[in-house]
Amino acid sequence: MSLDDIKADIKALVAEKSCGPILIRLSWHDAGVYSTGKLTGGCPNAAMRFTDAGEGTFGANAGLPTVALDLLKPITDKYVAAGTISNADLWTLAANVAIESMGGPAIPTRFGRTDAASSAESVESQVGRLPDGDKGTDHLCEIFHPKGFTDKDIVALSGAHTVGGCHADRSGFDGKWTEDHLTFSNSYFTEMLDKEYADETTAQGCPQKAHKATGTIMLISDLALLDAPYRETVELYAKDQEAFFKDFTAAWVKLQENGCEGLRDTL
Ligand code: HEM
Repeated sequence: MSLDDIKADIKALVAEKSCGPILIRLSWHDAGVYSTGKLTGGCPNAAMRFTDAGEGTFGANAGLPTVALDLLKPITDKYVAAGTISNADLWTLAANVAIESMGGPAIPTRFGRTDAASSAESVESQVGRLPDGDKGTDHLCEIFHPKGFTDKDIVALSGAHTVGGCHADRSGFDGKWTEDHLTFSNSYFTEMLDKEYADETTAQGCPQKAHKATGTIMLISDLALLDAPYRETVELYAKDQEAFFKDFTAAWVKLQENGCEGLRDTL
């Protein structure tokens, strides 16, 4: 069983189930708990597999241990059970195959992440590690700077919201960011700049911004990117998709490798 076999199976899954966006969110939340400073640890280790405690129970991860892992189960059963790849590496690879399958950049994947053996290897809490959608620029800085990201990186990474959407039964927010939510492009930035958004509260009581004519949404944290110090990068990526893809790739690989040691280029 080779790397090409795993990639082909992920590509087929993404095409069949249109599940690229949730696979990207799975990798982001596995790796995104990493922090330095007051908080430490949190390298990607697939701790969300355990739902007795820890990351598998975090509200911010709603839908990942259930929907995302159910979707991946046939591939997990085939390759992780056989010892070909770890769960944490599979989640990383799945996101990267999804991004490219949806028209985004080809992302290099390195391997060697070790899986958590139980929920005891989870980080203690999502607080200060994963971002809230109803907060603004200060919050984005507080969450992303201790992970080693610049303000430009924050804009590039947020551009992943060009695909997928919010689900009322998961986050309480509701709707898709872009009109072509299964294509990985710079449309998150072009739409954000072109559209007028109005305040809206979802049935779950969550505040968000809606574009009435097309039904797309933005979170408060998304539209915070229209303020300093982020706005000029939004304008750059709206004009230049290649610049977005290049900066996204660099920030995303850093995210997926944060806290990992001894990664290798081959499986
Ligand atoms: C900047 C702060 C961020 C906030 C506040 C945020 C918040 C959210 C929320 C509330 C959802 C909806 C979850 C649901 O209801 O299903 C979501 C989905 C998503 N997020 Fe983010 N996110 C952020 C950054 C990121 C980053 C850095 C990435 C990846 C690089 C990312 C990728 C995604 C994707 C692809 C989805 C769609 C999932 C789906 O369609 O099932 N987000 N995000």
